[in-house]
Amino acid sequence: MPQRTSLGVARVLHDGAVHSGAEIARALGVSRAAVHKSVEALRRAGFTIRAAAGEGYALQAPPDRLVEEAVVPALPAGAFGTAGWEHHDVLDSTNTRAAALAREGAPHGTVVVAEEQTAGRGRRGRTFVSPPGTGVYLSVVLRPPLRPTQATRLTFCGALAVMDAARAHGVETRMKWPNDVFAGERKLAGILTELSADMDRIHQAIVGIGVNVNTPARAFPRDVRALATSVREAAGHAVDRPGVVAALLASLTAWYTMALTDFPGVLREVRARTLTLGRNVRVVDGTQVLEGVAEDLDDDGALWVGTEAGRVRVVAGDVELAGGAGGGSARARQ
Ligand code: BTN
Repeated sequence: MPQRTSLGVARVLHDGAVHSGAEIARALGVSRAAVHKSVEALRRAGFTIRAAAGEGYALQAPPDRLVEEAVVPALPAGAFGTAGWEHHDVLDSTNTRAAALAREGAPHGTVVVAEEQTAGRGRRGRTFVSPPGTGVYLSVVLRPPLRPTQATRLTFCGALAVMDAARAHGVETRMKWPNDVFAGERKLAGILTELSADMDRIHQAIVGIGVNVNTPARAFPRDVRALATSVREAAGHAVDRPGVVAALLASLTAWYTMALTDFPGVLREVRARTLTLGRNVRVVDGTQVLEGVAEDLDDDGALWVGTEAGRVRVVAGDVELAGGAGGGSARARQ
């Protein structure tokens, strides 16, 4: 209960204006003592809240932590994260935790976020390096009315949402099929969608999103350093992590709705923002290597590559640009 009151108080104070204790208490239907207690709890959680004698409280700064009270007040009604939020200082992987919550019946749109991951996972069994307190590592529990073959839609929504959030913080990015976001030549974020499904229906999907936000280069292992970047590095200044997460979740919710109602519209946007299309690529899938021109994406998000032997439909693999941005990322751990 105190936690819900804290969230309510954080919502009221989110506009930065001064609100009296009596006004907050009335709005939330709690006592002034309960408001006072919640303000103290928020301060302990790192919120800077000014108390002006006889006037009330005003939020000066949220903490640099991705707690529910710092992010959810900035979300539109019904956005992912408003139905459930779990924050951890450290987790092995937010995807693993979100899958467990989903099995226990967590509502659609529940978000799991961690300040650090000790076993962050990337696609194809890779590690996603997740140093503490600077990046964004979150997973969303979804129950989409889609077939497993349509799951790439969800990955695309994740990538578009990251790109929107980066743009809102002054950074232009491009997507590398199927799940990476690049700023210039280096990877800024990755998406990992994992499913529990039968042949023709997804039961639950976990969309895991990892973004290097304020991550300093030195936080990455040496081999990753040359391949990874961060919003901070690309923008030239540190950015507000709760603000990045709020922008990302608001955008993800909107893209998800569009993916169910107008997927061609999503695909148009993905095509426009993908750096691989129209370029010479090398697709590596295990020991299979394919070379040709990345021509188009189809309705299931698969990549069509024009090779000397004809057009090939690619559903899995790593794409390297022949001599351009993203080249080399196939072997990157980040
Ligand atoms: C990739 O680069 O191949 C995908 C990276 C996905 C990383 C995110 S971080 C949050 C979520 N939890 C994980 O273990 N992985 C995803």
